[in-house]
Amino acid sequence: MDKISSRPLSYGSYLRVPELLNLQFPKSLEHGKEAHDELLFIVVHQAHELWFKQILHELNSVSGMFATNRVDEKMMGTAVGRLTRVTEIQKVLIDHLRILETMTPLDFLEFRDLVSPASGFQSVQFRILESTLGVRREHPLLANPESPFAKSLTPEEMTQMRQAESAPSLFALIEKWLERTPFIETQDGFTFWQEYQNALKQHLSRDREFIANHPLLVGEEKARQLGEVEKTENYFQALFDTQLHQDLVDKGVRRLSLRATHAALFINLYREEPILHLPFRLLTLLVDIDELLQQWRAQHAIMVHRMIGIRVGTGGSLGYAYLRATLDKTKVFADLFNLSTFLLPRSSLPALPQNLEQRLGFAFQQQN
Ligand code: HEM
Repeated sequence: MDKISSRPLSYGSYLRVPELLNLQFPKSLEHGKEAHDELLFIVVHQAHELWFKQILHELNSVSGMFATNRVDEKMMGTAVGRLTRVTEIQKVLIDHLRILETMTPLDFLEFRDLVSPASGFQSVQFRILESTLGVRREHPLLANPESPFAKSLTPEEMTQMRQAESAPSLFALIEKWLERTPFIETQDGFTFWQEYQNALKQHLSRDREFIANHPLLVGEEKARQLGEVEKTENYFQALFDTQLHQDLVDKGVRRLSLRATHAALFINLYREEPILHLPFRLLTLLVDIDELLQQWRAQHAIMVHRMIGIRVGTGGSLGYAYLRATLDKTKVFADLFNLSTFLLPRSSLPALPQNLEQRLGFAFQQQN
């Protein structure tokens, strides 16, 4: 029985369908003449907010699993399942934008001025989602408490935002978890990093030779490409030098701690070892989430360009120019993307000591 009405529970009463369908109030209707496409504009935004709610529900549960000093291994599969769900939702959100693009710029103009100064910029859940993942924002409209954005928030929304900002982000929790990863240093004189460095050095010098001897590369282009190899070599040096690594962190080139970077690299290199498989999938999903968020941002920016050209946004930003600029700055797990620079083909990987290999495998023994 439904607790609210005394009727048996129904589809409509369980899901609050009447309330849900009564939440769309086109401004154009209020002004006397409904613009046909405004309903779509509202529905697509509201659908986004519902999906943001679900994404936050999943991300918060995964953060909860990693917020302890010892992550329960049994929860890894659940975390991987929930993050996979987040990526599936993100794909749907990109498609939602495509539906909105069936509205023409001229049809948008029918009601655009009526919704000003409201803007997606003020989506509190979007900002909480960014903080939960660990996006670092420096935009003055966001940071300044006197900004129109801050002033548009209710006290509850402000509290929610502040709570999300002060809680450890998923980035920070994953970093701590990686730093605690065993196997990286073992008691038995494990020389993995030394062997790995040698193998990688050989690999990079092959790149250098390839460019130096390439028959079609000449002059400036050859010098430029050799310069790129040198940059990679320096970048690689910083992988084993605390000070160099810190310099890159200070310059904003790297963010993940050195120890966490080593653990992530090890997991990526030896992903086929049974114990490392779920951690590998988890790291891959973080990259997927970052990538899909970038795709959403890009799709949104392109849509904005075609809808309003280069006009300023209703939220007070430069519009398309602002959105394009956020693209590169908002990646959270860029260090995990960059790890691919240091991967080696399986055939060149240093072999693991036998006892370590055993510890990384499943150790179930059949009793006779
Ligand atoms: C006709 C469709 C749309 C237009 C023309 C548009 C326009 C804009 C513009 C110009 C901005 C920059 C801030 C500003 O000055 O207002 C912005 C930001 C934003 N919009 Fe949209 N938008 C549209 C649809 C959507 C939809 C469907 C969503 C879904 C929730 C959305 C979410 C956002 C978010 C989250 C931001 C902040 C992005 C950031 O700061 O990185 N927008 N939008």
